[in-house]
Amino acid sequence: MEYAEEIHGAEDIIGYAHWKMRPFSLSLESLCRNSHPLYSRIHLNLALININQLVTVSAEGKRVKVGADMNKLGVVENGAVLVENGTIKWVGRMEELSIGSLKDAEILDCLDKVVMPGFVDPHTHLVFAGGREEEFAMRNAGATYGQIAANGGGILSTMRDVRSASKKELKKIARRHLNGMLRQGTLTVEIKSGYGLDVEAEMKMLEAIAELSEEEVIDIVGTFLGAHTIPPEFRERKKEYVHQITERMIPYVGTKKLAEYCDVFCDDGFFDLEDAREILLQGQRFGMASKIHAEELSANGGAELAADIGAVSADHLEHISDAGIRALAKSGVVATVLPGVSFILQHGYAPARKLIDAGVPLAISTDCNPGSCLSYSMPLMMTIACTQMHLTCEEAITAATLNAAAAIRRSQEIGSIEQGKKADMILLEIPNYKYLPYHFGENHVVKVVKNGVVLEL
Ligand code: NIG
Ligand code: FE
Repeated sequence: MEYAEEIHGAEDIIGYAHWKMRPFSLSLESLCRNSHPLYSRIHLNLALININQLVTVSAEGKRVKVGADMNKLGVVENGAVLVENGTIKWVGRMEELSIGSLKDAEILDCLDKVVMPGFVDPHTHLVFAGGREEEFAMRNAGATYGQIAANGGGILSTMRDVRSASKKELKKIARRHLNGMLRQGTLTVEIKSGYGLDVEAEMKMLEAIAELSEEEVIDIVGTFLGAHTIPPEFRERKKEYVHQITERMIPYVGTKKLAEYCDVFCDDGFFDLEDAREILLQGQRFGMASKIHAEELSANGGAELAADIGAVSADHLEHISDAGIRALAKSGVVATVLPGVSFILQHGYAPARKLIDAGVPLAISTDCNPGSCLSYSMPLMMTIACTQMHLTCEEAITAATLNAAAAIRRSQEIGSIEQGKKADMILLEIPNYKYLPYHFGENHVVKVVKNGVVLEL
């Protein structure tokens, strides 16, 4: 029986059958149940050699890159990487590699490949049920996201599907997406709740996220987004719903440690600044750091709020004001921009160029969700960021790796290929890294190294 069948049950197996563990000959059956292959084999050493172009995105101890530093990718031509126990032990040029260090190591020949850090996707709504393809058609015919939401569609449409799905169904759908993500090189992902909008369904979503995080290869960070929109039971009674979030949901989620972050959709027709402050501060009291969906549909001061309460990131920012940009630059809050959302909703792009030039740490993310961007391709987001938001290719890579890791406070462990960091890397069949945003619509990822273990795609 396949490992995945043992763990998930035969009917749940979706992507794992296609994953061949490499390069060791250990059979999957011999691995003990409930012990993930990636964790049961990290004692083995690995050497990546003959790397045509190694893009390290070296941070040199910094949490995040800002300004001109975002263009420095620490590229090594003809490079090599040594991995021990899932951790990067050495990074350098092939000429400097001592033959002795290859003893007992499994060799991965990276001839003609680019090797770079695995992508980090720091803002998604990846656990959901149902689809909203009709809304895609409606918007292309002229309707706006706000109009569709005001008519009971949008987030509420997905809420109905999520409420009627079981946790098992939600996980099954999410697994398919997670495997797709992994194939495109995303090795860590943040996932939000926010399609349940009542105590029971929000907890179902958070439990699904927590269980997936235990069971899946990809690393998952959970966020509580009970304040995604006002559910129908509380229509015209928003304050009561806010009260339910702060007095019932957050204490439960915080005490059970079901989420690392608390987030609010702070925008016209959703939650205002006052609601957002109340919810996010209560989240902090219960151990959840803050994130915010801000300035997407209008300029409302959400960025200033993020700076004021010490949020880890402020996300969207299509309509951010100059004062908002200054507040983010001063506070070091990571601005996570979502190129795919603007591409799909056609409501203009966040001023990413201005944000970088003002010294704001900038990350990019897919926002993968069934409404405003059903894509988990970080390379596609990079292409849009370069062509529509005028990022350099180097800035886009930094924004999708090191800075994206900083947006979920993981940049000490992942986001760059440096000694002491987790061995999360991807191998791409392209002549150089500039091909990544340039040759779009094609998956160039041919192998993934996750925790020091090679996965063949
Ligand atoms: O980040 N802006 C609010 N929330 C999501 C969209 C969720 C949905 O439409 O289902 C976003 O774009
Ligand atoms: Fe979002």
